[in-house]
Amino acid sequence: MDNSGFELHEETPPSPSVKMERKKQEHPGEKKSRWSLLNIFLVCLLACAITTVLGVLVLSLVYTANTGFKPKYDASSQKHRAASVGNSVTSAQVDPKFQFLHQLAKAKKHEFPGGTIQWSRFRKNANEYQNKEEMAFGRSINAQRSKMTFGTLRIKSKGLRAPHWHFNANEHGYLLKGTAWIGVVDAGGNTVTTYNVTAGQVIFFPRNTVHWLKNVGTEDCLFLLFFTTHEELQTLDLDDTFFLTPEDIAARSLKPQGGVAFIRSFQRQAEDQAVNLPPNLAELVQNPNYQQSEDPLVWRYFFDLKGSTEFRFPGGIIQFARYVKDGKGLSTNERIYSEFLHSKEDALTLGTLRIYSNGLRQPHFHFNANEMGYVISGCGQVGIIVSPSLTTDFTIGVGDVVFFPVGTQHYIKSTCDEELVFILAFSTANQLQTLDMDDYFHRTPDHILAQLFFKKQDEFKKIPHFNEDQAINLP
Ligand SMILES: *[C@@H]1O[C@H](CO)[C@@H](O)[C@H](O)[C@H]1NC(C)=O
Repeated sequence: MDNSGFELHEETPPSPSVKMERKKQEHPGEKKSRWSLLNIFLVCLLACAITTVLGVLVLSLVYTANTGFKPKYDASSQKHRAASVGNSVTSAQVDPKFQFLHQLAKAKKHEFPGGTIQWSRFRKNANEYQNKEEMAFGRSINAQRSKMTFGTLRIKSKGLRAPHWHFNANEHGYLLKGTAWIGVVDAGGNTVTTYNVTAGQVIFFPRNTVHWLKNVGTEDCLFLLFFTTHEELQTLDLDDTFFLTPEDIAARSLKPQGGVAFIRSFQRQAEDQAVNLPPNLAELVQNPNYQQSEDPLVWRYFFDLKGSTEFRFPGGIIQFARYVKDGKGLSTNERIYSEFLHSKEDALTLGTLRIYSNGLRQPHFHFNANEMGYVISGCGQVGIIVSPSLTTDFTIGVGDVVFFPVGTQHYIKSTCDEELVFILAFSTANQLQTLDMDDYFHRTPDHILAQLFFKKQDEFKKIPHFNEDQAINLP
């Protein structure tokens, strides 16, 4: 089996025989670590028993010390949870920042005749990670039950991402460049919705809808894709299902002229056609028609993010493709998207974040969503606080993927001359709930802050209030 054929198996669910093979060799590293964890646990248990035997006095002393230590004890149990984000043995050898950062530009390129796919994702088989850093990230988004996987899809001019569907995820995409003609077939097959997308627009494919993406422009298309699962994405491509269906069954179902002989005349290509581009395309296809369905249908699957309301701050601009209750402030077409999004389980809120040179998206956290972002341009510095014992700052550049688990405090600073631009996804289709650092400082009474920080109450008047929201600020 050649390389790209193997890639297919990575993306599609394994056949029963492959499954069994996998089971046999399933994550030997993990099993070992599970065993050693069990051993440690047993040793701890034994130690506890010995402590008990040693005397009630000692035990109660330890107990008192623990109780007096309550806040720190809480912190360390949080730390334990955070550490499990990156998981056991390996995370000890990897910079903790890789639980929140994946350098996707360096990730393996899955090459197909018509384009390329790259992934930031969880792998069930640890051997499929390229390196420890990638494993730390994959395990982190899985352990946090992030409901997110990220990928980039590059399609050459005239190339086609084959019609396919995902068992276990909605898909939200952002077209960074190019023009594509999209098709979506909904349950029952009564409708196919087709439309053109151009750069700066957002697409939405609910779980198990059959969809395709055809590059109808002259340059490459680059899609930035978010899938709403932290497990391995399960996908079937239309050509694969056709060739895996027995010929007589396919003939009975499609009832073609010529019957089974016609079905037999189909030739399976040696290379995986997930993204395809036949060399003799002009010979095969004449007068393709790229029509667009009627508006009310189209806008369920499609949102003009670039053309949407800009939320402006002193240091940058935010735009959203999201659900808004009662459609307040949305155009008629935007409302169609908003309502459709809200009708689906586990849909995402997407957004672009632009931070001017030297701007700061101040420290904040989200009550109700994990966040994943991809750096489209610029560079910056990011900091995240998970717990007193897990805090990390790191630099980011084009092609990096960041992950901020729900509740963790994070900031983003733009550090070069050009704007820092992100596409962001939040794991909620409800309204995003956020709290910024200046807001929680202003809302906490001065006397509470004075007591907490051992500082005179008056001193806190030095922290000014501004008329304009400082979510993204400038010095
Ligand atoms: C979609 O784009 C293609 C290629 O640019 C064009 O031929 C076609 O007319 C467009 N369709 C619509 C409905 O705008």
